[in-house]
Amino acid sequence: MSAPLSPSAPLLKLEKIGKTYAGAVPVTALQEIDLEISGGERLALLGKSGSGKSTLLNLLALIDQPSRGCLLIDNRDSRTFNEKEATRYRRHDIGFIFQFFNLLPTLTLRENIKLPMELLQQSDDDLFEQLTREAGIADKIDRYPEEVSGGEQQRAAVIRALIKKPRLILADEPTGNLDFETGLHIVGLMNEICDTFGTALVMVTHSQEAAAACTRRLRIIDGRLMAHA
Ligand SMILES: Nc1ncnc2c1ncn2[C@@H]1O[C@H](COP(=O)(O)OP(=O)(O)O)[C@@H](O)[C@H]1O
Ligand SMILES: [Mg+2]
Repeated sequence: MSAPLSPSAPLLKLEKIGKTYAGAVPVTALQEIDLEISGGERLALLGKSGSGKSTLLNLLALIDQPSRGCLLIDNRDSRTFNEKEATRYRRHDIGFIFQFFNLLPTLTLRENIKLPMELLQQSDDDLFEQLTREAGIADKIDRYPEEVSGGEQQRAAVIRALIKKPRLILADEPTGNLDFETGLHIVGLMNEICDTFGTALVMVTHSQEAAAACTRRLRIIDGRLMAHA
């Protein structure tokens, strides 16, 4: 993303976005989604399984394209992004955190965390040290994912997303596979780091505690966005 055209422009703006998956029986996953996401804000997305949450995150990350409506990134229609620009946006501006951590099993935690930085030809050893220390995984950093707990793997995945200082973190049920206490610790870590760097966050969660830590809460019901009761 280049500099915003206007300082007040939202990071992302969705206008009447819809998504239908083609197939023998087409599935409409999202309908008429209007949403603005501003720099630094933290949005919790709640909703039942199959309601369209992951579909929405994938659209925000330009992993998938909407079927209808307009997605504006820094006030620019995402349909005008060429492949190179879309890749740049995904690599530089977005940090993605998945439910199942998605660490590469043949790399240590350290190597997993540093991989995106190497792709970006950046490095920030001070931030690496700081984040791994704050996350409490500094002493396990040279282990392979299978040699640490799920909570520790997710902490590494959170750091991997944050260390490149993206403008927006997209987290798809980041605590869904963790016990309650470990989940709260992960959410605390994400919030702290988002605060420090002014990073925006869109987090899919089923946890009321995780949602309460966000600045805004919305619910998806059958592909439609609603205020969270
Ligand atoms: N690649 C796909 N092809 C076809 N249908 C899909 C695909 N991905 C998701 N869906 C369907 O779209 C709807 C929303 O799915 P999803 O966004 O994954 O929901 P959630 O993340 O809220 O569980 C569901 O009915 C799901 O089966
Ligand atoms: Mg999902």
